[in-house]
Amino acid sequence: MTSLATSISSPFQRWRDHFFENRDRSGALPWHDSYQLTGTELRAVARSIQQFQLGEWARGRGFVRRAASHPVLATDSWFVPALRLFIEEEQEHSSILGRFLDREHIPRLTNHWLDEIFRRLRKLAGLEACATVLVTAEVLAIPFYQALRDATGSPLLRAICVRILCDEAAHLNYQALTIGLVRRPLSERARTVRSLCHATLFHATALLLWQQHRAVFRAAGWDFRRYWNDAGGTFAFLQFRIERADSVDDLRLD
Ligand SMILES: [Fe+2]
Ligand SMILES: [Fe+2]
Repeated sequence: MTSLATSISSPFQRWRDHFFENRDRSGALPWHDSYQLTGTELRAVARSIQQFQLGEWARGRGFVRRAASHPVLATDSWFVPALRLFIEEEQEHSSILGRFLDREHIPRLTNHWLDEIFRRLRKLAGLEACATVLVTAEVLAIPFYQALRDATGSPLLRAICVRILCDEAAHLNYQALTIGLVRRPLSERARTVRSLCHATLFHATALLLWQQHRAVFRAAGWDFRRYWNDAGGTFAFLQFRIERADSVDDLRLD
């Protein structure tokens, strides 16, 4: 088997540098802003922020263990360091949302059945399954944070959402690179089956997310059609990136 380190000039080195340079920016958010969510706003967004704060938190030990033992990707010495910093960035999202919840006197959740399902799904199989389940949630996080950004009058919540959206857009490219390289040795047919399974998971999760968080979308003026079309468009973009993982050059999803 060809070593990734010799066949590609360390595609994860740039990601490691990107995540490293992106660290510790939560202080730049307008925490001093005095806006407090109104009762109506709280009813629309509090439960959803609680769920996302919980979902963004992961120690990632299983993910790192699978990555470190992958026969091809682990030969790139930048792969695991990039992954560790990626997980730290997700933990930072959870910390920021947690600080916002504390500020609004909204209790943090310690568990939720939907979060538990996703954690169990990620543990089912190897690196590809782990990354696929995670990126499915990340695709859907994009329309969610776009709606949350516009759902209230809070400048702080808006700035938090803009910051997370910027990170998540990059995460799609990063995850597409990982999944695409994992799938590269597979036959065309096997890759097609993987894509179909992923599409099924995506559509089921998208329906569940709307059912759980439609109050946020409605508060931002979104209807189901807009949500479905936007989420589907982002998923199609992800699949395109996965298929062309070797030529993923952009850090951003523009
Ligand atoms: Fe995140
Ligand atoms: Fe992410």
